[in-house]
Amino acid sequence: MPVPVVIDCDPGVDDAVALLLALASPELAVRGVTAVAGNASLDDVVRNAGHVLDLAGAPDALPLTAGMAGPLTRRRRERDEAIHGEGGLGGLVPAVPPRAAHPGHAVDRLAEAALAEPGGLTLVALGPLTNVAAMLARFPEAGRALKEIVLMGGAAFTQGNITAAAEYNFHCDPEAARFVVESGLPVRVVGLDVTRSALFPLDRTDRLASMGGAAGAAGELLRGYAMRYEERSGLTAVPVHDALAVAAVSHPDLLEWSRGWASVECAGELTRGALVADVRTPGRERAVAIATGVDAEGFTSLLFERLSGYADLTSSTW
Ligand code: BDR
Ligand code: CA
Repeated sequence: MPVPVVIDCDPGVDDAVALLLALASPELAVRGVTAVAGNASLDDVVRNAGHVLDLAGAPDALPLTAGMAGPLTRRRRERDEAIHGEGGLGGLVPAVPPRAAHPGHAVDRLAEAALAEPGGLTLVALGPLTNVAAMLARFPEAGRALKEIVLMGGAAFTQGNITAAAEYNFHCDPEAARFVVESGLPVRVVGLDVTRSALFPLDRTDRLASMGGAAGAAGELLRGYAMRYEERSGLTAVPVHDALAVAAVSHPDLLEWSRGWASVECAGELTRGALVADVRTPGRERAVAIATGVDAEGFTSLLFERLSGYADLTSSTW
């Protein structure tokens, strides 16, 4: 039976690729997509998510719902365009307007989806955790109805990517990240510890970009992202962070996990947004599972194969 999921995201190129992967995964049943400000403004990420659902040929009935426009307790800071490019999708936004978001708010939608399948729904969180924390605070019974939360965020045992200590999603809204990580619910964290060890090579982005249909559009997206990453890092392979979090649900055996106590630093002058994890102290509560190992070849092959599958899907608007 496919695992029912709702995907909360802030597309963002790797979010876009993660959505394409999820929608091409028979192991998953995507019940809805919710959007949160992060890589771009709320308007931009909703628009981008609509474009990606169009590209994937997702049914109109699949709900796309807009959520929080900024962090719980802080002002939103514009993201620079160095990673995701103009508008969040590297300027590759089609001229044709995307499908509209469904009415309502993501926080309500997430709760409804959880309560509709008690014990069954996995919430996959790929952006700042603002929507997720707001849902858990407003509808605690819906949080308890979730099967689990699998999130992309944090850098437990490695350097951050927005500061030395913090990963981007956690740094955007540290209070929300802390609320979710400390919720006591089943939480699995897919952070930079593993996403930086599962790099998607530039030659594979080129091969995808040369394909027809929606696979070619996905390849163009990834290629621009990989080239911007190469300019910054000198590497000819790129972490597709959010897609690995989706694969953690569809193919859990691709990752190794360590259980530990975990929280998020909200006050530190130099460490705000840092994931703090203790997987060593004997006898300490170990509520959170943190990904600490990954089958990189298994993941990149899976991603390549699933994105290649879009080659037969005509993309008239990209
Ligand atoms: C995370 O930050 C965003 O830029 C990506 O979409 C991903 O969710 C990686 O740190
Ligand atoms: Ca993201």
